[in-house]
Amino acid sequence: MRRKVIAGNWKMNMLPNETIEFIEKFEPLVKDTENEVILCVPYTDLFYALNFAQNTNIKIGAQNMHFEESGAYTGEVSAKMLKSIGVEYVIIGHSERRQYFNETDKTVNKKIKAAFANELKPIVCVGETLEEREGGKAVEIITNQTKLALEGLTDEQVKNTIIAYEPIWAIGTGKTATSEDANNSIKEIRKKIEEIYGKDVAECVIIQYGGSVKSVNAKELFTTSDIDGGLVGGASLKPEEFSKIVNYKK
Ligand code: PGA
Repeated sequence: MRRKVIAGNWKMNMLPNETIEFIEKFEPLVKDTENEVILCVPYTDLFYALNFAQNTNIKIGAQNMHFEESGAYTGEVSAKMLKSIGVEYVIIGHSERRQYFNETDKTVNKKIKAAFANELKPIVCVGETLEEREGGKAVEIITNQTKLALEGLTDEQVKNTIIAYEPIWAIGTGKTATSEDANNSIKEIRKKIEEIYGKDVAECVIIQYGGSVKSVNAKELFTTSDIDGGLVGGASLKPEEFSKIVNYKK
């Protein structure tokens, strides 16, 4: 049985004082959950989040990183830097980064390798646009993104990769994929992983759903056969709301 992993993606929101307030309110609400809880916060909040989440069940992630370890890359942050302050997770290839910051399948693959080389656990995003979906290309797009993202990884690394299936048309739009649709897309992703790496590996990979996850739809999504939790944007900014998503079974 795969565990459920529920990660908040704060995007470019929250100041350090808001981060501290959030964790103080959120921690008691999720302390008894059996699910894995991650907050992916802006770089400027990492230090505060790591401090205030210390000795709790809340894990901390970043939202991006560079694939090189160091060097003349003004404005960038490396996996080694994130690891050095105690970060455990990193989102890689979010659709906003693919769309606005020229992230490609190739850079995504390099970043995943750099994350593993520095003992960070990647949360890798894949997803189709509305146009691609309407053109009947969704499965091809997401399975190809998955294949390219994982290229050259060992079985063990693939097992430890979290994939977030986020249909782009569902992000921040209030439109959620139906649980059936999302589950079917995730099954296709798992099938592709099985084709390349075998059933043993594919059965271990955590595949989340993301795109307008809220407390009102979390249970329906997370109790399907293949959705192993969620990557949550907007609804992860409010401690009560996000705690209800984490505690979706209650
Ligand atoms: P949303 O964002 O929950 O606000 O739709 C999800 C994401 O982009 O990770």
